Amino acid sequence: MSRIIIAGNWKMNRNIGESIDLANSIKRLLYDVEEVEVVICPPYTSLSDVREVIMETNIKLGAQDCYWEKEGAFTGEVSVPMLKDVGCEYVIIGHSERRQFFNETNEIVNKKAKAVLKEGMRPIICVGEKLEERKNGKTFDIVKGHVVNSLAGLSREEMLKAVIAYEPVWAIGTGVNATEGQAQEVHKYIRGLLEEMFDADAARSVRIQYGGSVKPDNIKELISQEDVDGALVGGASLKADSFVQIVKNCL
Ligand code: 13P
Repeated sequence: MSRIIIAGNWKMNRNIGESIDLANSIKRLLYDVEEVEVVICPPYTSLSDVREVIMETNIKLGAQDCYWEKEGAFTGEVSVPMLKDVGCEYVIIGHSERRQFFNETNEIVNKKAKAVLKEGMRPIICVGEKLEERKNGKTFDIVKGHVVNSLAGLSREEMLKAVIAYEPVWAIGTGVNATEGQAQEVHKYIRGLLEEMFDADAARSVRIQYGGSVKPDNIKELISQEDVDGALVGGASLKADSFVQIVKNCL
């Protein structure tokens, strides 16, 4: 498994035809890249078609959310076995947009993470503070709450399959990324928390991505930091050229 993981979160963008085109372009431009693990996370409606495009490539498929029950009367929800069935290996959990607009709590994020791991898939668990919280010196408190409560009850083995994405809310979609120093400071703190919850070896092994206005021209500095193991990319993942350049700048 590559240490560096670059994931594209397409959010609520791209219809089926556009998704196929975007996935095809990414596939064409990244056909020879093996050193970086690449994941693309289209909307639910495009998962099946994008899977066809990236089949037999190194590019992996991810979903942007899930529900924790396997099946039943939960109108509108999509279960983890359904995502597995459509070919997903990764599921983004607890994105700040879900926490903010859909009232997702750490407890909900925890249930979803456990459901994903139970199916043998990998959750990308998002954590991160809002601008107000950073301004008030609450960054570490908030991140600690997200990490400790979202990961509560996970076994060491499960933790090793999970990815954490540190996404400061103030950096998402704003064009203002955290500096490499700001990212490293929080990533190191998260690794320290993992060491307390599990052990030093496990903490070292878990990959921690940075997310928030990642672009081809800032990825190198971010990735050069000891505790930054990749990126969760929003806007720049919607264009093949910028997403591919982010991946290539990690080589
Ligand atoms: P942007 O890259 O558009 O800032 O979005 C980051 C993000 O939310 C990825 O999950």
